[in-house]
Amino acid sequence: MTHPRFTDIGACVFDAYGTLFDLNAAVAPYRGELGDKADKLSEVWRLKQLQYTWLRSLMDRYTDFWTVTGESLDYAMAALAIDNAGLRDKLLGAFFELDAYAEVPGMLETLKANGLKIAILSNGEPKMLAAAVKNAGIGELLDAVISVADIGIYKPHPSVYQLAVDRLDVAAERVSFQSSNAWDAVAGAAFGFRVAWCNRFGQGREQLPDQPDAEIKTLAELPPLLGLS
Ligand code: LAC
Repeated sequence: MTHPRFTDIGACVFDAYGTLFDLNAAVAPYRGELGDKADKLSEVWRLKQLQYTWLRSLMDRYTDFWTVTGESLDYAMAALAIDNAGLRDKLLGAFFELDAYAEVPGMLETLKANGLKIAILSNGEPKMLAAAVKNAGIGELLDAVISVADIGIYKPHPSVYQLAVDRLDVAAERVSFQSSNAWDAVAGAAFGFRVAWCNRFGQGREQLPDQPDAEIKTLAELPPLLGLS
């Protein structure tokens, strides 16, 4: 049965990293080289990557997500005293070799077969997103790949979510937005999207004013939420 908050949906919009694309799997081959610092490095890298997007947005110092990703990796490697330029390049390169999570292609096919518009809305720089889409083989299923690079400010600024409304020509309340990032899910809800928080990583609920409409564990749960099969 359709979830009461997800009726009359016209478009499904997805966050990229950690939502559609599995970054952990891409970095996994280098865990051996990192030894017992592997988990800490991943954690600090991702946290700094996001912090830098927020800080640069507040400071009015936008630069592309590829640069931010490299700078945050530099921070994380220095903080953990890892001095290995070859490894740095391999870890960054992982962003170009991402697979979609297993359920993603089938789920997107179901949405498409039911006439929904489908888009990615991401901090990712267009070249990074194009590579991930190609590698995952999901390009045919997408109507748009939307990057914040078009406006030079990062999520969670409302103008980022507005990009999806404008590009897809679907009102915010007819957009179902999916993100695995609790803060991105909250920001999408604050903007006016219907939001399914794909809580793959067992994150805690953000203590912020707006909340997602539904919490799911994988994107396989999205079509049933929309009353589709
Ligand atoms: C993105 C990050 C936030 O794709 O995962 O925008």
